[in-house]
Amino acid sequence: MARIGSFLILLSLTYALTLCICDNASNFGGNKRNLFPDFYRSSCPRAEEIVRSVVAKAFERETRMAASLMRLHFHDCFVQGCDGSLLLDTSGSIVTEKNSNPNSRSARGFEVVDEIKAALENECPNTVSCADALTLAARDSSVLTGGPSWTVPLGRRDSATASRAKPNKDLPEPDNLFDTIFLRFSNEGLNLTDLVALSGSHTIGFSRCTSFRQRLYNQSGSGSPDTTLEKSYAAILRQRCPRSGGDQNLSELDINSAGRFDNSYFKNLIENMGLLNSDQVLFSSNEQSRELVKKYAEDQEEFFEQFAESMIKMGKISPLTGSSGEIRKKCRKINNS
Ligand code: HEM
Repeated sequence: MARIGSFLILLSLTYALTLCICDNASNFGGNKRNLFPDFYRSSCPRAEEIVRSVVAKAFERETRMAASLMRLHFHDCFVQGCDGSLLLDTSGSIVTEKNSNPNSRSARGFEVVDEIKAALENECPNTVSCADALTLAARDSSVLTGGPSWTVPLGRRDSATASRAKPNKDLPEPDNLFDTIFLRFSNEGLNLTDLVALSGSHTIGFSRCTSFRQRLYNQSGSGSPDTTLEKSYAAILRQRCPRSGGDQNLSELDINSAGRFDNSYFKNLIENMGLLNSDQVLFSSNEQSRELVKKYAEDQEEFFEQFAESMIKMGKISPLTGSSGEIRKKCRKINNS
């Protein structure tokens, strides 16, 4: 009897421990419970204001910067969590993520992150992490372009490592099929609704020709254009993106309003006018995802609410908290290098 009793106690303890670990950890090891909006309330009360003001100035200089900063946050979070690893330059043992396929020649905005961090260090040295600064900048970028606002949980710390290889396998690519894209989101603890809502960030910003050329001329090696691409839209795109050369030529991700955060991205998908393969498959390849696209195309408020919720969720992917990681003085290098 006593044996059964201790076995049951052991079983319930293991169960409680498992629950506790799963609940605390966002994916593998990060402790998202330690993130909360008032994290810098006494240590750096003006942190949010400082980030907002630098992002606003950068946006005044170039409206596209909002899109670029939002993308940096996504590329940071999907690779070993939202830990600022993307911001590190190559130095010592660090091999930068900036030269990996998804980032090379397209990730931009690092100088603005430097400016934000310098302003934060000026006001409260060694206090606000680069990972938090970037998370706030992504929220501010949404607001500046007319998108939703949300309260940002804070308290992330910065990594002392980066990975050149991980972006290639963790980030979805523009010519991936639906299942691969969905798998990469699932690997980060994000669901189908998060995938569709977060893809809605392609309502702002630009893509280089090289990221969608295959759809115009040779979809999946067929020698023909993608059949899910609207013909007159394809003709416009072919003018900007020739069969060869012009790799860096830019096209709007949302042809109707690249500078405004709205739901026209979803309306475009219904018209077969998504720019990237990864955009159009949300409408063409999966029924559940198609229904979400239609819902957000009809109801901008619903999209905004879900976008805010999914951005908060993405911002909680495996954060470094407590005594792990560090608060970098400069976002481009670890402190003792
Ligand atoms: C669903 C999978 C996704 C894929 C395959 C993808 C891929 C891409 C590609 C290829 C570009 C253009 C890069 C170039 O210049 O060639 C781009 C731009 C962009 N992406 Fe995504 N993306 C995805 C999801 C997301 C998410 C979740 C966000 C943010 C929450 C995001 C935000 C952006 C923004 C704002 C731009 C424009 C950046 C600029 O103009 O500088 N993307 N994306």
